[in-house]
Amino acid sequence: MFSDDDEKSDILVIESGKPAILVVDGDTGLATRLNELFNKAAVVDSSVIRDNSPYVIIGVTTAAAAVQAVAGSLAHHGQFNLIFSEYQLDQGNGLELIQRLWQLDPNLNAILCTGYPRLDWQQIVETLGESDQLLILQKPFSEVELRQIVHAMIRQWQLVKQTQSVMQFFELQNKELDAANRKLQDIQAQLLQSEKMSSIGQLAAGVAHEINNPIGFIKSNLNSLKGYTEDFLALIAAYEQAEANIVCSETLYALHRLKEKIELDYLRKDALELLCESSEGIERVKKIVQDLKDFSYPEKNADRWQWADLHVGLESTLNIVYNEVKYKAEVVKEYGELPPINCLQSQLNQVFVNLLVNAAQAIADHGVITIRTGAENDKVWIEIQDSGCGIAEDKLSKVFDPFYTTKPVGKGTGLGLAISYGIVKKHKGEITVSSKIGQGTTFRVLLPVDPEEQSS
Ligand SMILES: Nc1ncnc2c1ncn2[C@@H]1O[C@H](COP(=O)(O)OP(=O)(O)O)[C@@H](O)[C@H]1O
Ligand SMILES: [Mg+2]
Repeated sequence: MFSDDDEKSDILVIESGKPAILVVDGDTGLATRLNELFNKAAVVDSSVIRDNSPYVIIGVTTAAAAVQAVAGSLAHHGQFNLIFSEYQLDQGNGLELIQRLWQLDPNLNAILCTGYPRLDWQQIVETLGESDQLLILQKPFSEVELRQIVHAMIRQWQLVKQTQSVMQFFELQNKELDAANRKLQDIQAQLLQSEKMSSIGQLAAGVAHEINNPIGFIKSNLNSLKGYTEDFLALIAAYEQAEANIVCSETLYALHRLKEKIELDYLRKDALELLCESSEGIERVKKIVQDLKDFSYPEKNADRWQWADLHVGLESTLNIVYNEVKYKAEVVKEYGELPPINCLQSQLNQVFVNLLVNAAQAIADHGVITIRTGAENDKVWIEIQDSGCGIAEDKLSKVFDPFYTTKPVGKGTGLGLAISYGIVKKHKGEITVSSKIGQGTTFRVLLPVDPEEQSS
C-alpha cells in the first residue's frame, strides 16, 4: 500500500472557495484534459489556479502524493470535493487509493476511470462497500460526458455538505431547546418548592403558635406534679414506718389488701418514670415546635447580616454535633480558600448542623464524612459528603419537603432540610443533593459572597 512519505510534495492549501478536484494519473494526460476542459489552459501545474475557472484542478502523478495532498488540505481546513483517479497507478490501484482517501475524508466523491472493459464490480463492493460517492467511468469517454459527470459529482458533494450543515444547525437548535426546556423545568420546580414552602410555612406558624401555649403549661405542670408525687411518696413511706404502731389488726389487714390491690411497689417505681417520660416527650414536642417556628419565621431569630468566615462557623458547628458524629464517622476536612461572606451566620450554622447530623444518621456503623469548601467567581460552596446509605433517585426530590422523613418517630421531624432550604434561599443561594444508594450522599450549598449584589 501507499505510504505518506514516499514522495514529499508541497502541502496544498485550497482556499479559493471554488470546488477542488484532485486528479491522480501517472502521465498527467487526464489532468491536462480536465484542465483544458474547464480552465482552457494547456499546462497542468499544481501551483496554477486560474481565477476564471469554475474549479481548482490539481494534478498529482502518484498515489502517495494524492494521499499527502488530501491530508495536507484537510489539515489546513481546505477540502477536496472530488478525486478523479486512474485505475492503474504507480503503486496499487485507484480503488485502494480511494479506500485510503475515504479514511482521511469520508465526504470525498470519487471518479475512477479505467480502460479495462470489465472492472470486477464484486471486488469494488468488497473494497469500498456500496457507495453513491463513487462513479466508474469507462474509457473512452466524451468531453460532454466528462463535463456532466464532474458537474454532477461536485453538485452532489455540495448538496450533501449543505444538508449536513442544515442538520447540524437543527441539532444545535434542538440542543438549545432542550437546555431551555430543562431550565424552565428547573425554574418551575423551584417555584413549586418555594410556593409549597411558603404555604406550609404559614400553616406551621399558626400551628406552632397554638401548640406553644399548652406545651408551656403542660411542661410546668409536669414539673410540679413530679414534685408533688415525690412528696406523696415520701408521705407514704412515712406512713409505712408508722404502720408498726397500728394495733388494730383489722385496719392493718385492710391496709395490706389495699397495698396489694393498687400494687404500691410498682406504682412507686412507675409514677416517677411516667413523669420523666412525659417530660422528655414534651421536650421533644417543644423542639419540633421550635423547628417549626424557625422554619416559618427564621428572621425572628436574633440574627443579623454580617461578614463572616464560614470555616469558623463550620468548626463551631462540628463542636456542637461532635456527640452525634464521633462514634459514626471520621470527619475529613478539605477546606479551600474562602473569602468572608455577607450572611446570617447562626442560620447558616443551623444548615451545617442539619447536614452533618443527617450525614451521621445516614451511616449505619462507621463511615466517613467529608467537608469540602471552595470559592469560584463571586460564590462560595460547601459540600458535605457522607458514605452512608444514600437516597433513592425517586426520593431525591422529596428530601427538601417539610415533614418528609424516613427516620423513626422521635428521631426525625422531616424539617431539617426544609429549614435549611429556606435559609439558603434567603441568602440567594442554592442547595443541591446528589446521591447513590449504598454509596453515599453529597449535599452542596452554593452561596453568593454578597447576596445584596445578586439580582434575584
Ligand atoms: N445524608 C443523607 N443521607 C441519606 N438520606 C438523607 C440524608 N439527608 C437527608 N436524608 C433523607 O431526607 C430526609 C429528610 O431529612 P431532614 O429534612 O433533615 O429530616 P429528618 O432528618 O428529620 O428526617 C431524611 O429522613 C432522610 O430520608
Ligand atoms: Mg435531619
